[in-house]
Amino acid sequence: MSKIHAIITGVEAFIPEYILTNEELSRMVDTSDEWIMTRIGIKERHILKDKDKASSDMGAKAVERLLEKTNTKPEEVDFLLCATVTPDMQFPATANIIADKVGIKNGFGYDINAGCSGFLFALASASKWVETGTCKKVIVVGTEKMSTIVNYEDRAVCPIFGDAAAAIMLEPSTEPYGVMDCLLRSDGMGRKHLHQKAGGSLKPPTHETIDAKEHYIYQEGPAVYKHAVIDMYEITKELCQKNNLKTEDINWVVPHQANKRIIDSVTQRLGVPPERVMINIQKYGNTTAATLPLCLWEWEKQLKKGDNLILTTFGAGFTWGAIWVKWAY
Ligand code: UT7
Repeated sequence: MSKIHAIITGVEAFIPEYILTNEELSRMVDTSDEWIMTRIGIKERHILKDKDKASSDMGAKAVERLLEKTNTKPEEVDFLLCATVTPDMQFPATANIIADKVGIKNGFGYDINAGCSGFLFALASASKWVETGTCKKVIVVGTEKMSTIVNYEDRAVCPIFGDAAAAIMLEPSTEPYGVMDCLLRSDGMGRKHLHQKAGGSLKPPTHETIDAKEHYIYQEGPAVYKHAVIDMYEITKELCQKNNLKTEDINWVVPHQANKRIIDSVTQRLGVPPERVMINIQKYGNTTAATLPLCLWEWEKQLKKGDNLILTTFGAGFTWGAIWVKWAY
């Protein structure tokens, strides 16, 4: 029997309307467009302003659009996997809330929290459900209302993040396209550099934790930066060597969008020229689990069947990894 591959058959996104510019941020904290552009490479990011809307609402919009685009009925979906660090609630899983909002009733779903590597880890995991023949129509959605955990008084963090959602459809194929290989890594020691101090079982929310602003992102930027540059490069190199992929075989690198300097440094070391690297950080900032599918969505029209894509991420955990995808349409 020929091997079943998990192929991507569609991608869609939802981006909230409100644009938070560097100029507006400069009025909120002691920063400047020049600093943010030079050190991070972000011009603007989108923010979900509606107080009564959450990650699931953006995720549901992206999934609704995906269902329409791929001509799929909600009842045909057998698995919805949601990657997020900003779930609507501690429980139940945001995947279940999205499924309910779009009418997916005949399947199952759960969330993955792998920080900024969330979508990559989710794609690797979901592909296994397809490859084993268990699932036929799988949706992987990355959705983040990062603005709910960003301290807009902390100039070292607030320029970085944005809100968005994007989703892909995965289906089985006996043709050799889709997810070809995955390498994932994590190291919990990295938690000291990037975490949320309160709100979990270690430090449940109290008036004191709120006053101390411990429900916001805590990040030691330079330490994270150093690991991101080294680990994304090493894991991508390892994946390429394992699969005998030369630099010239890579049509696109799809990197996590955390800092333009990280992307440049990783891809320069890999020897991949900028015109083969997907970069949209300047428009959306770091949307955590949504960055990779947001890139795929923006570049979809330029992609050709058979293109070799290398997706690579680094995030809280620490988590990092690389996936080789052969584009299927
Ligand atoms: O996606 C999850 C994984 N996260 C990442 O990959 C993020 C990795 N880290 C980074 O991208 C960078 O470390 C940051 C963008 C977070 C920070 O950039 P940096 O070049 O590493 O700056 P720094 O933290 O070393 O700070 C340099 C200086 C400091 O001033 P002093 O102490 O040298 O006087 C900061 O206070 O820049 C100052 N600074 C700012 N100045 C103007 C920090 N943030 C700002 C700001 N505007 N927004």
